[in-house]
Amino acid sequence: MENKICVVTGANSGIGFALAKGMAQKNFTVVMLCRNKEAGESAKNEIIRSTGNRNIDLMIAELSSQNSIRKFIDGFNAKYERLDVLFNNAGANFFSRQLSEDGIEMTFAVNYLATFLMTNLLLPKLQKSPSGKIITTVGEYHRKGTINFADINFEKNYSPIKTGGQALLAKIIFTYELARRLKNTNIKVNCFHPGAVKTQLQKKLPPLWRILTGMFRPFFLSPEKGAEPGIYLATSEEAENVSGKYFNRFKETRSSKLSYDLETAKRLWELSEEMTGIHTTIGQNN
Ligand SMILES: NC(=O)c1ccc[n+]([C@@H]2O[C@H](COP(=O)([O-])OP(=O)(O)OC[C@H]3O[C@@H](n4cnc5c(N)ncnc54)[C@H](OP(=O)(O)O)[C@@H]3O)[C@@H](O)[C@H]2O)c1
Repeated sequence: MENKICVVTGANSGIGFALAKGMAQKNFTVVMLCRNKEAGESAKNEIIRSTGNRNIDLMIAELSSQNSIRKFIDGFNAKYERLDVLFNNAGANFFSRQLSEDGIEMTFAVNYLATFLMTNLLLPKLQKSPSGKIITTVGEYHRKGTINFADINFEKNYSPIKTGGQALLAKIIFTYELARRLKNTNIKVNCFHPGAVKTQLQKKLPPLWRILTGMFRPFFLSPEKGAEPGIYLATSEEAENVSGKYFNRFKETRSSKLSYDLETAKRLWELSEEMTGIHTTIGQNN
C-alpha cells in the first residue's frame, strides 16, 4: 500500500505541530490543516526540513466556519482516496463571548462542533482505510464541564471556564458515541489528555491567567512529549483495536461520570446534527 495518510488540525503550532512532525517521521503523508497560510507554510517547511519527508500537504480552513470546513472537505476529497488517521487537535479559548459566522458561541464552534462536522464528513474516506483512526485531543479539565442544553451558546452568564469545560466534555461524549456507532468496523475512535504542555495556548491567556500559569509553565511538558500519546494511539500495535476510550497520557482512564451518560450523548448528537445541518447515517446499524 502507498503511504498512509493522516490529517492534523491545528498543525502549525504546539501539540498539533508535534503530531504532524511525529507522523511525518513515521512516513505518513501528512495533511496539515491550518487557518493561517503563512504560519502553515513555515511549519510545513520546517517539518520537511527536519524529517526529510516531502509528502507534507498544507490545506487551509477556519474551523469556526462550517462553510470553510466544507470547502476543506471538498478539497481533501478531490485529492485523496482515503484517510487513515484523523487528529482532531485544534483548540482555542475565548475569554469574552464571541459568535461564529454561523451564530454559534466560538468555544463550542471551534473546539467541538468543528470536530463533529469534520469527522462525520471524513468518515467515508476513513472507511476506505484498512484500519482508520480518529484521535481527539481533549483535557482533564472536562471534569469541570456540563452540557448547558438550556443555553448552549451561553447567552446568559458567559463564563470561559464553563464554555471550555463544556467543549472538552462534548468532545469526549462524541468520542464514545461515535465509537459505539462504529463498533465492529475498521474505524477506532479515542481521545487523550496530553498533560500540561508548554504551547501558544498559555501565551493567548489574559494577563492575570498568564501570570498564574507562568509560574507553573517551566514544569510543563514539551509539545513533543504532549503529542506522544496521540502518536501511540495512531500507530502502536498495542492500541490497534482499542476504541471508545479516554487516555490520560498513555493510561486508559475513566473520564467524568457525565461523559458516559447515554441520554446526554443522544441529546448532544441530535443537537449537533441540527447545528451543523447534517444527518448522519454511517455506523447507525452497527
Ligand atoms: N497545552 C496544554 O496544556 C493542553 C492541555 C490539554 C488539552 N490541550 C488541547 O490541545 C490542543 C492543542 O492545543 P495547544 O496546546 O497545542 O495550543 P496552540 O499551540 O495554541 O495550538 C492550537 C492550534 O489550533 C489552531 N486553531 C485555533 N483556532 C482555530 C480555528 N478557528 N481554526 C483553525 N485552527 C485553529 C491554532 O491555529 P493558530 O496558530 O492560527 O491560532 C493552532 O494551530 C487543543 O485542543 C487544546 O485544548 C492542550
